[in-house]
Amino acid sequence: MISPTPLSFLCALLLCLPLALLFSTNNVQNITTTPTTIILNIPMPLQEDINFSEKPNKKLKTSTSLSSSLSLSRRLSPSTSLSNYGVKAKPNVDQDDGLFKVAMGVKPKPTRPNKVAFMFLTNKLLPLALLWESYFNQTPTSKNLFNIYVHADPTFAYHAPFSGVFSNRVIPSQPTMRFSPTLAAAARRLLAHALLDDRGNSMFVLLSPACIPLHSFNFTYHALLRDDKSFIEILDNEETIYDRWAARGTHAPEVRLEDFRVGSQFWALTRRHAQLVVSDRVLWPKFNVPCLRWDTCYPEENYFPTLLSMWHPEECVHATLTHVNWTGRVDGHPRTYEAWEVGPELIRSMREDKPRYGDGNGNGRSDPFLFARKFTADALQPLMKIANDVIFRD
Ligand SMILES: *[C@@H]1O[C@H](CO)[C@@H](O)[C@H](O)[C@H]1NC(C)=O
Ligand SMILES: *[C@@H]1O[C@H](CO)[C@@H](O)[C@H](O)[C@H]1NC(C)=O
Ligand SMILES: *[C@@H]1O[C@H](CO)[C@@H](O)[C@H](O)[C@H]1NC(C)=O
Ligand SMILES: *[C@@H]1O[C@H](CO)[C@@H](O)[C@H](O)[C@H]1NC(C)=O
Repeated sequence: MISPTPLSFLCALLLCLPLALLFSTNNVQNITTTPTTIILNIPMPLQEDINFSEKPNKKLKTSTSLSSSLSLSRRLSPSTSLSNYGVKAKPNVDQDDGLFKVAMGVKPKPTRPNKVAFMFLTNKLLPLALLWESYFNQTPTSKNLFNIYVHADPTFAYHAPFSGVFSNRVIPSQPTMRFSPTLAAAARRLLAHALLDDRGNSMFVLLSPACIPLHSFNFTYHALLRDDKSFIEILDNEETIYDRWAARGTHAPEVRLEDFRVGSQFWALTRRHAQLVVSDRVLWPKFNVPCLRWDTCYPEENYFPTLLSMWHPEECVHATLTHVNWTGRVDGHPRTYEAWEVGPELIRSMREDKPRYGDGNGNGRSDPFLFARKFTADALQPLMKIANDVIFRD
C-alpha cells in the first residue's frame, strides 16, 4: 500500500508546516491545478544505456583506488564531530556520479555464499537496533550471509555512535527530505555502496528505522533468495497516479503516464536490479528534479516501481514484503505501533496478512511478509520480550 494523499492534504499541510516552509521558495506558492495538456507520445528510453552483457569498462575495472575510496569506509576517520559517530557527510553531490560509474561496472554474478544486504535509511540512531542485533546474531552460521549498510542523514544529531552490528556501517550520506528526490537518491547510494563493498551481495533490502523483522534470519534469507526475483510493489491503478505523475510538471514526461507506477518505498532487489538502478541514466534525471507540487511528490514511491516495470517486470514479484497498516490513516503516515499494542497476537496477525500483488502478478503466489513497520522506540522492550519465542520462531 502507498501513502494516501487527496482528502488529507490540509492536515498534511498543517503537520508538515516546517517542511512546507523549507520548500516554499519554489513549490508551495505555486501548487498548480491539474494541467490540461498531457504529452503522451514520448518514446520509451533506449535500452542502449543499460547493457548487462557488456564487460565492465577496463578503466573502471582497474580504478580500485576510486572504488575503495568511494566504497564503504570501514575505518571512518574521526576528523569531524559527525564522523565520531560513524556518520560521514559528503556534501559534494557530484561524488555520486563517480560512485555510480564504478558500481555499474561490478561483476553481475554474485560470489558464494550469496549474501543479503540490509540497507537502513535513517535520520536517527536506530531505535530498534537491539532487536536487529539479536536477529543477526541468532545463529553463528548466519554471520557470513549478510552485510549491513546505513545511510544516515548528516544534518541530524546522533548522540552516540552506531554500535554493535551497525558500527562502522555508515556510508557517506547526504541530507534527505520528504517531498523531494533525496530519499530515492539515498536508496540508490546505498545500492551502489553495497554493490561495491561485497561481491557476495545478491539481494538488497531497504529498511527504515521503524521496521522490525517478522521472522528469523534463516527464514528471511531463504525466502528472499529462493526465486532470484525482486520483491517490489508495482501498482498501476492507483487513484493518485495522475497527480503523482504530474507532480514534476509536464515539462519532461519522458516517462509516459501509462508507464508510470506506484509502490511502497520498501523493496528487496536482486543484484541484477541493483545494477540496473545504479546504471540508470535514462529515468533518474527525470525523477531527480524538484516537484512543482509537493503534496503528490513521492519520487521514492514512483521511481523504483516505474524503472523495474519498464525494464524487467517479469523478473519482479510485484509486491512488498514489508507489512504496513494504512487502515483509517489520512495523514500520509501509516499506523505506528506503540509499546502497549505489541504482543504475540500482533506479530501473528501481521504474518497472516497476505501481500497485495500489483498488475495481477500474484499468479497464485502467497509470499510471507518478512518485515513490518512502523514501530515506536518504546516498542523495543515488548518486542525484545517476544523476540526468541515468537518473532524468530517461524
Ligand atoms: C507559478 O507558475 C506560473 C506558470 O509556471 C508562473 O508564471 C508564475 O510566475 C509562478 N508563480 C510563482 C509565485 O512562482
Ligand atoms: C551488449 O553488449 C554486447 C557485448 O559488448 C553486444 O554484443 C550486444 O550487442 C549489446 N547489446 C545491446 C542491446 O546493445
Ligand atoms: C532454514 O530455513 C530453511 C528454509 O526455510 C529450512 O529448510 C532450514 O531447516 C532452516 N535451517 C535452520 C537451521 O533452521
Ligand atoms: C490495522 O489497523 C486497523 C485499524 O487501526 C486495525 O483494526 C487492524 O487490526 C490492523 N491490522 C493489523 C494486521 O494490525
